[in-house]
This record gives sequence, C-alpha cells and structure tokens, in this order.
Amino acid sequence: MRILVTGAAGQVGSETLGRATDHVVIGTSHHELNITSAEAVADALADHAPEFVVNAAAYTAVDRAEQEPEVAFAVNRDGAANVARACASRRIPLLHLSTDYVFSGDGDGRLDEADPTGPVNVYGRSKLDGEEAIRELLTDHVILRTSWVFGAAGRNFVKTVLRLAGERDELQIVADQTGCPTWAGDIADTIWLLVERFARHGTLPWGTYHYCGTPPVTWHAFAEAIVERARAAGPFEAPRIVPITTEGYPTPARRPIYSVLSCAKLETTFGIHPPPWNRGLDEVVRALSDG
Ligand SMILES: NC(=O)c1ccc[n+]([C@@H]2O[C@H](COP(=O)([O-])OP(=O)(O)OC[C@H]3O[C@@H](n4cnc5c(N)ncnc54)[C@H](OP(=O)(O)O)[C@@H]3O)[C@@H](O)[C@H]2O)c1
Repeated sequence: MRILVTGAAGQVGSETLGRATDHVVIGTSHHELNITSAEAVADALADHAPEFVVNAAAYTAVDRAEQEPEVAFAVNRDGAANVARACASRRIPLLHLSTDYVFSGDGDGRLDEADPTGPVNVYGRSKLDGEEAIRELLTDHVILRTSWVFGAAGRNFVKTVLRLAGERDELQIVADQTGCPTWAGDIADTIWLLVERFARHGTLPWGTYHYCGTPPVTWHAFAEAIVERARAAGPFEAPRIVPITTEGYPTPARRPIYSVLSCAKLETTFGIHPPPWNRGLDEVVRALSDG
C-alpha cells in the first residue's frame, strides 16, 4: 500500500516514518504540506495517490493556543476537516490522532470513548472540533486519542526536565495532575498494527479509540522517573524534584486534573495492550544521552 503521513517531522510522525515496513510511506512535514490549505491537501492526495492516510499534523502548543486560538482552530479543526474531506472524495481511510485534553479531567475514574467530553482549554476544544469534523465527513476513520506524548524528536516534558536538570539544583513539578505518559514509538507501533490489519482485511472496525502508556502517574512522579533514568544512563547531577500544586504553577491554559484514558476498547477490538511507558523512557533517555 501507499501511505501518506502528515506532520512527519513531529514526535509521532517521525517515529511512524522511522518504523520498518513493506509499504511505500510518504511523509510530509509542515513545510511540505500545510493542512490548513484545503487545496494543498487535495493536491497532495492527487499527487501521492495514497491508499491510507495518517494525520499526525497538529498544533500542539497548549499554552500558546490561549493567545492564538485562531491558529489552533485553523490546524486542529479546519486542517483535520480538510484531510477528512479530501480522503472522503477519494475513498481513502484516515487514521487521525487526538488527545486526552478533549476531557475536562474533573472526575477520578478512567475515561472511555463514550464518556462525555468537556475540554478546559483552547487546544482541547480545537482537537475536539477536529474529531467531530472527521466523524461528519468520513466514515472510514480511526481517531486514536492518546496522552502525555514523549519522544526523542520535538518538544516534550522529558526533554524539558532533562534540560532544566542540567541548569538547576531543584525542579518544582506539579504533583496533583494525573495522566498516562505515552512514548511516540509505541504510538507508531500501534499505528502500523492498524495499517497492517487494514492492508490484510481491506477494512477496520472504524471509530474512536484510546491508547496510552501505563501506569498512570503525576507529572511529579514522571519527572522523578526521568531523572532516575538519566542518573542510571551516565554522569548526571540529579536535582531535587519538589512537588507543587497546580495553583502554585499558574499557566495560560488550564489542564485536566485527572485524564487517565481507558484502553479497554482497543484491547478488546485489536488485542493491543497499553504499553509500559518506562520502556520508551529508557529508549528516549538513552538516545538523548548518546547525543
Ligand atoms: N504532544 C502531546 O503530548 C500529545 C498528547 C496527546 C495527543 N497528542 C496528539 O498526537 C498527535 C501528534 O502529536 P505530536 O506530539 O507528534 O506533536 P508535534 O511533535 O507537535 O508534531 C506535530 C507536527 O505537526 C506539524 N504541523 C503543525 N501545524 C501544521 C500544519 N498546519 N500543517 C501540517 N503540519 C503541521 C508540526 O510542525 P511545526 O512544528 O513545524 O509547526 C509538527 O511537526 C497530535 O494530533 C496531537 O494533538 C499529542
């Protein structure tokens, strides 16, 4: 099959392209294909003639989105709609990525796909609107919601903690927000499992699925795990990791307090289990330590 991956330079996009496959994979970076242009998306599908599209392109700057909502909505809502519309007109299935931030995170139980959404920030609203546009425009879609993504490429919490750890003796990290870190490499593996299944069967059980790492942690506990790995990987002066509350660390965007996704539907439907995030963390810390 021919597979087009948008947002190919991002965390998930680059890991998806980096996986070995027998298929022909065409990756387009932001610079090569801007999904906010309906015309550019239609042209790309005409030129590359993919049989499956993975939309890993997104506006992911959660705090900046509060200052420039129009940009977030242009990419995450209108861009997603452009991709879905172009796929629909050529009868191409789409795998699209979304986020735990479509939920308010006000509860204390695992969130499944049928749970009511209620984003608390611009980024989450723009991603939810993108999901809804896809559901309206294209039947043959998988929306894969994931959370707290980290990888060796791009910007993420792991890289921020390691950078700050090299500059400070103490890091204050929020200890009252809980979620599931997910390695971009594990997401890429799951994308390929779904693509392979489509290649074999010519269809998929379309719909929305959750996929994230296990176990759930607070940002504070995740930071401790990151620093511990870095210490084990080489000479590293570990800073103190001090727990603080969300109130003690005001950010432009509010964040869900408890956004732990249930992956039961993906497990039951595809036999794909939530990956332990520590395996991915080892890989990423090692890759970053090796330079
Ligand atoms: N990061 C997370 O913690 C997280 C959590 C849950 C869900 N997700 C979702 O997972 C997916 C992948 O996220 P990620 O972590 O891989 O994000 P990422 O590293 O920020 O990658 C997104 C890519 O999309 C590109 N992009 C931005 N605007 C674009 C446009 N108009 N047209 C084409 N490309 C554009 C970006 O390029 P530039 O950088 O050059 O703009 C970037 O390379 C997204 O749908 C995201 O919402 C992410």
